Amino acid sequence: LDNPVNLYDFQTHARARLDPQVLAYLEGGALDEVTLHENEQAFLRKRLRPRVLRDVSTPDLTSTVLGRSIAVPVGIAPTAQHHLFHADAELAAARAAASAGIPFVGSTMSSISLEEIAQAGGLRWMQLYIQQDRVLTEKLVQRAVAAGYKALVVTVDTPVLGRRERDLRLGSPRQTYANLDDISAEGETLADAAKRLIDPRITWDDIDWLRSTTSLPFVLKGIMTGADASLAVEHGAAAVWVSNHGGRQLDRLPATIDMVAEVVDALAGRAEVYVDGGVRRGLDVAIGLALGARCVFLGRPILYALTCDGERGVAAALRIIEAELANAMALLGAPRVADLERSMVV
Ligand SMILES: Cc1cc2nc3c(=O)[nH]c(=O)nc-3n(C[C@H](O)[C@H](O)[C@H](O)COP(=O)(O)O)c2cc1C
Repeated sequence: LDNPVNLYDFQTHARARLDPQVLAYLEGGALDEVTLHENEQAFLRKRLRPRVLRDVSTPDLTSTVLGRSIAVPVGIAPTAQHHLFHADAELAAARAAASAGIPFVGSTMSSISLEEIAQAGGLRWMQLYIQQDRVLTEKLVQRAVAAGYKALVVTVDTPVLGRRERDLRLGSPRQTYANLDDISAEGETLADAAKRLIDPRITWDDIDWLRSTTSLPFVLKGIMTGADASLAVEHGAAAVWVSNHGGRQLDRLPATIDMVAEVVDALAGRAEVYVDGGVRRGLDVAIGLALGARCVFLGRPILYALTCDGERGVAAALRIIEAELANAMALLGAPRVADLERSMVV
């Protein structure tokens, strides 16, 4: 890929290269894929109200998440099975994130182990599914602590797997789960693994239990209402991550960007708010920040970039997002992240 100008360039290039089954796994959503499309469409419907004459000569994109400095308020969302996209797998994306000074979230379902990913350095968080086997779940938490992960991202929108029809037709690709090698069957499909590894019985009590096992701060990912955001904080969450799993779980959910304000208002500063879903432009990041998110995460775009050129591809994609964000902030009259305000978005 010669001269990528935006994230869609990586997408086009990756689409032409990937095996149809892997592409279906990457791009697919649940049922009619209403939510999948809505995530991107909602960003495109937003209109901006810029402020002028505000000296934007030195844009400052720095921020913090959970008390740690980041160079840009953008992060890499947890996505499973990077070996399907590039031989360097998760290490490539984690290294690109570390170089860019942004957080990388490793998936429970990663293709290489969380310890191997840790070699990338940088700010890393561990995404966790509370599994049927609580001993194994607790062991994963302890391994994450030992390997220097700074937060747990507990995904709560996946008590069961969504019905992804592209996968049902083509079959989800055979996968291996390096974090779970004591129980996962080599080459198991995602659907089969999910039935054993994801626990449909989990409740808020399990969040309390998880909290009792570690002093790591935790983030609940997959919250879509102000009511659940409030409960998350009452159960000790340090942050709430507004997500609909990229439209892969419950279909007919609203776009994530349209739920950010409700969650921000419900929390009233009690916890940080993050968002992912359909972010394809630095301008989308600016909109998320203006509506009150503290960090905006990317899922599929990272996998497209990884497919194109491993670590270099992801690094290039992150540079583009950063440049687009800096440009958007300057034109909005917001030299610093804190200058982005809700009144700028309609
Ligand atoms: C191929 C793929 C695998 C994913 N795997 C996980 C996972 O293991 N754990 C998780 O919490 N979310 C997972 N997600 C959801 C992402 O973290 C994120 O919520 C979503 O991709 C954001 O939307 P976007 O792809 O439009 O950026 C996955 C998404 C994709 C596309």
